[in-house]
Amino acid sequence: MHLIPDRGFQHPVPSEITPRDLALNRRQWLAAAGAAAVALPAAAQTPRPGKLAALPGAPSAVPGASTVEKITAYVHASTYNNFYEFGTDKSDPARYAHTLKTRPWTVSVEGEVARPGRFDIDALMKLAPMEERVYRLRCVEGWSMVIPWVGWSLAELIRRVEPTGNAKFVQFVTLADRAQMPGLSSSVLDWPYVEGLRLDEAMHPLTMLAFGMYGEVMPNQNGAPVRLVVPWKYGFKSGKSLVAIRFVQARPKTSWEVAAPHEYGFYSNVNPRVDHARWSQATERRIGDDGGLLARRRPTLMFNGYEPQVGQLYAGMDLRKFF
Ligand code: MTE
Repeated sequence: MHLIPDRGFQHPVPSEITPRDLALNRRQWLAAAGAAAVALPAAAQTPRPGKLAALPGAPSAVPGASTVEKITAYVHASTYNNFYEFGTDKSDPARYAHTLKTRPWTVSVEGEVARPGRFDIDALMKLAPMEERVYRLRCVEGWSMVIPWVGWSLAELIRRVEPTGNAKFVQFVTLADRAQMPGLSSSVLDWPYVEGLRLDEAMHPLTMLAFGMYGEVMPNQNGAPVRLVVPWKYGFKSGKSLVAIRFVQARPKTSWEVAAPHEYGFYSNVNPRVDHARWSQATERRIGDDGGLLARRRPTLMFNGYEPQVGQLYAGMDLRKFF
């Protein structure tokens, strides 16, 4: 087993996540908390700046779509990010993603579908009623957050474009524009950042196209104007700033698989029993927990706690082999 990824890049191990980032976030959080004496919508019981346009969503009727766990403060969810197109530091996306232009924006739906097409983002947003879903997000690096997303089930779009019998997988392609994304000058990953799901995973009602969070439109650093959210898989499956959704017959390669095939498989289901090649996946640190880096880690749940809803998708599969 190779422990060093082929590109010479290593996803930071959990112990390398710097206290500096957390200390900074904490100061910002305290500042935000002081300013947040205004009324907040019920779901987002957390300070948020209210700088972006409102994007409310009705509570989702999808079973298990919303956890009642404490929602992560907006300041953490919007300043502690992975979006390598803007740099590999957790604070880079919040600092540099203002150069991302989210209008005009189109998402092209291609490949094995009866009704392919290019969707203007504003038309796409009206395709189905906006819902709010409070999902756990578990990063492969060993931290997690609880985020109220606004959007709707990807299945709403998939049904309308009518996949053919040859559509077995869905590939997600994200924006790669050097003029807007300083991180593209680095070769840590192959650009564009691509991800993939099996068609039945993509059709699962929990799989979401998200256009906003905390009742507002998506901040650029979180993947504006539209991103995927797949709550039972490690966060890297949730591609940000999508420009194409491609229906294909053969399993597509993903950026992380190409970068480090021994460390990242196609499925990437959250699984506390299958360790990453360089660290355990048994526990996680909830960002924003009192105590910061010293806070007690919590056990990671099978399929990130969504086993009742998604376990059946993997019945009979050896999850050590298909990691
Ligand atoms: N999408 C793109 N285009 N580029 C990225 O680098 N990082 C992924 C995922 N989507 C990434 C991406 C990773 S590793 C994680 S953990 C989540 O986005 C983080 O989402 P968040 O910043 O909204 O919490």
